[in-house]
Amino acid sequence: VKSTMLIDKNFVISSVDKRIYGSFIEHLGRAVYGGIYEPGHPTADANGFRQDAIEAIKALNVPIIRYPGGNFVSGYNWEDGVGPKEQRRRLLELAWWTTETNEVGTNEFADWAKLVGTEVMMAVNLGTRGIDEARNLVEYCNHPSGSYYSDLRISHGYKEPHRFKTWCLGNEMDGPWQIGAKTAVEYGRLANETAKVMKWVDPTIELVACGSSSSGMDTFAYWESTVLDLCYDQVDYLSLHTYYNNNNNNTENFLASSLNLDHFIGSVAAICDAAQAKKRSKKKLMLSLDEWNVWKTIGTSRMEERWTIAPPECEDVYNHEDALAVGCYLITILKHADRVKMACLAQLINVIAPIMTENDGSLWLQTTYYPFLHASNFGRGTVIHSIVNSPKYDAKDFTDVPYLEATAVHDEENGYVTIFAVNRHLSEAMELDIDVRSFGNVTLDRHIVMENDDLKAFNSKAAPNNVVPHDKGNTTIDGSRVTSRLSKASWNVIRLK
Ligand code: AHR
Repeated sequence: VKSTMLIDKNFVISSVDKRIYGSFIEHLGRAVYGGIYEPGHPTADANGFRQDAIEAIKALNVPIIRYPGGNFVSGYNWEDGVGPKEQRRRLLELAWWTTETNEVGTNEFADWAKLVGTEVMMAVNLGTRGIDEARNLVEYCNHPSGSYYSDLRISHGYKEPHRFKTWCLGNEMDGPWQIGAKTAVEYGRLANETAKVMKWVDPTIELVACGSSSSGMDTFAYWESTVLDLCYDQVDYLSLHTYYNNNNNNTENFLASSLNLDHFIGSVAAICDAAQAKKRSKKKLMLSLDEWNVWKTIGTSRMEERWTIAPPECEDVYNHEDALAVGCYLITILKHADRVKMACLAQLINVIAPIMTENDGSLWLQTTYYPFLHASNFGRGTVIHSIVNSPKYDAKDFTDVPYLEATAVHDEENGYVTIFAVNRHLSEAMELDIDVRSFGNVTLDRHIVMENDDLKAFNSKAAPNNVVPHDKGNTTIDGSRVTSRLSKASWNVIRLK
């Protein structure tokens, strides 16, 4: 197959908000306990934080991490996770039916985030609690001193406020599985009143209202528009959540699922704009895609083994085709950089995650670690609207799927143009002609490739480097004409200088 791409630096979509390379750590499975926190682990510091996990996360350059949930937050009393550890209560946790030890809470997570060099995207509980809990938590976290909750934080050893900037108003409140699920009207009103009061405590924070749990919900679109009618003026972002998998084993269809993501983002943006028009508002609402990933074990949680501590849960193993799908989603997110200002790969460690730890203390990286690593490290700057011409195919749920999924990011500061490209063709390599004329003569910095003859090949503790990228991509350059050969079913990063 042959494709072409025209990249002109004047065709700007938007600058990249680095927070699109965010991720998520929930009190779920072994994400916190046995993931980032494991006192006694050979690499653990004095606070029990695993340094090997920190190093793997630091390499991903994740600028923001959502915490503490997820479904977990809808039953969480933040007061149980602060203060002297020995006094913290063990409680039944009803989102995932485990026992929560509360050894890690808000302050520990803030400490950990500092070590990683990331911001925290906090969430408040709008399931079992509401306005009062939310405003107290903002006071505890962000108010300098001189009030009950800020002084309580100081008494817990945290003189400086955490100054968390971004806050989620609950989680997936439309989902029947959610503790304290709400109708759109119930939630919209509660979100509005909670947002108002949280911002009275700290006017510098920004707030994310819950969109639907997925575009597959019966109430999708009705939920968004009703909620926004009720809280538009008080919030700054609307959330989107989406997960995909190839459980039906139809890879052409699976790799086309980024078209669904594209449509989802476009639809939610349109609903936000309709709400803006109704309000005659000057504010354009931005989107927070704060849960996205491949999730194969969705709906198969081990909740029957009730009340264990940090049981293995949602420990998907990702293969080569999953990495390609993640690459397509990252490209799609970039193409919507004008509206999507935050996005969280859900999740970061052990739970549907790019990083895995084992009981023997080892750590290994999934296939999906790599496209995220590349996009996060090289996809900073300005997204260019590229003109792509590619042959297309039809799949079970999608028509006109281009074999080439691609976008370009211009890093003006360091003088790079980076092309991210997936060849969706499962049996043929692609000849790709890229015209970068507005950049003049360019040179090749590197062409990174992830390819594998076996779409189902995966990494594991025993074979951690089974599927890893290499730097031997096939690209030649003549002035401003770039010619690349993209292997069948491959993820490519072409860095031009
Ligand atoms: O990321 C796992 C779970 O998926 C989250 O707890 C929830 O918000 C979503 O349903």
